[in-house]
Amino acid sequence: MKDTSGDDLETELVSENDPKIVVNSLWKVFGQNNPHQALDEQYRNKTRDEIQQELGLIVALRNVSFNVYSGETFVVMGLSGSGKSTLVRCLIKLIEATSGEVLVDGEDVTNFNADELLQFRRSKMAMVFQNFGLLPHKNVLDNVAYGLEIKGINRERRHKEALEMLERVGLTGWGEARPRELSGGMKQRVGLARALAVEPSILLMDEPFSGLDPLIRRQMRLELVELQKGVHKTIVFITHDLDEAVTVGDRIAIMRDGEIIQMGTPQDIVMRPADDFVREFTLGVQKTKVLHAGSVASKPDVIVKDSDTIETLRSLVHGSDSAYAICVEDQGAFKGLIRRETVDGIKLSEKKPLRDYFDESVEVIPSDTILEDLLPTLIDSDHPVPVIDKRNRCIGVATRRDVLRVIASESDD
Ligand SMILES: Nc1ncnc2c1ncn2[C@@H]1O[C@H](COP(=O)(O)OP(=O)(O)OP(=O)(O)O)[C@@H](O)[C@H]1O
Ligand SMILES: [Mg+2]
Repeated sequence: MKDTSGDDLETELVSENDPKIVVNSLWKVFGQNNPHQALDEQYRNKTRDEIQQELGLIVALRNVSFNVYSGETFVVMGLSGSGKSTLVRCLIKLIEATSGEVLVDGEDVTNFNADELLQFRRSKMAMVFQNFGLLPHKNVLDNVAYGLEIKGINRERRHKEALEMLERVGLTGWGEARPRELSGGMKQRVGLARALAVEPSILLMDEPFSGLDPLIRRQMRLELVELQKGVHKTIVFITHDLDEAVTVGDRIAIMRDGEIIQMGTPQDIVMRPADDFVREFTLGVQKTKVLHAGSVASKPDVIVKDSDTIETLRSLVHGSDSAYAICVEDQGAFKGLIRRETVDGIKLSEKKPLRDYFDESVEVIPSDTILEDLLPTLIDSDHPVPVIDKRNRCIGVATRRDVLRVIASESDD
């Protein structure tokens, strides 16, 4: 499996957290015969189909390993039958893994006894299903409060908390309604509110929006992203739609035939697909919605430090074709931009410090700005736009040409 994560700064920041979920060499083999046979050395190089033919066993998960960090939305993506649901069910031990570990906050879920498992499912992990899973005879409020009812929380308190959750998902005033009176999107908001009500630290979402109309589906994705900014849950989100994956995911794992074949940020996956299979997936994705300014930024021709002399500035600018120089502090923090005309106009007799010449008012763009949001700034600007990272260091400049290249490559696809 190709792990392309860690290539950019955002991944670096995510991985500074402790992993919330650690999955180590997880296998799930279905079938009547001894499932452990499929793990034997002699089958390691055989395909899933070959193993099925020879042993009558289905290898649903094959040596799967990954970490999910606290507060991260981790997307598992793959075609039908690739093992996504099996994986998410193993995380909560709805299915017993054949081999491997699932550590949540350092504890191995695969070893939990019935009591521990019950406790774990009631408090730490909540699941949102594709078919909503609402109780038809209960009203919306009681559906949302259901997890709290099971925990033995009294009626008054659970209703109060359920009302807050309904407000969170935009369903204020719907508490008395029955599930059948709601649209699909509203039902799924109830499903989400019910999962959030038990205050789990982890949300497992198995194709939660797949049953919805495309328009509602897109809206729900954006709502989830907004909601997550407020709740900071650790989310494992299953989908077979890359557009959805890149909208909601901080990182994406792509599965095929029970294996993870690539794992990385949406930018990694779109810019550096591990193989033709992944590339196929990425073709339909609008790159200007996925790629960040940081991924197209290029090194400016001329960089000067604010402690440099005017002579240094002049010789660097005149020794290049560049129409501007970028000025940074010693630690790399962006200070300003100096246009070539300004440099040309500096008289030799002037003895002012460099910082008196650079334009500190130029707009800078954070490196995680998507290209679509960068375009208006670029169009209004008569110079390349400095791109800064989370520590205010200038990592490069974005030019109209850089963005046009991405748009042009999209129309080639
Ligand atoms: N209970 C089971 N018994 C036997 N085989 C199973 C069982 N559950 C899943 N499988 C097989 O394991 C493989 C992975 O199934 P899984 O449901 O995890 O796929 P998925 O990626 O979730 O697919 P989908 O996108 O269709 O939901 C499939 O080949 C499936 O037939
Ligand atoms: Mg599934």
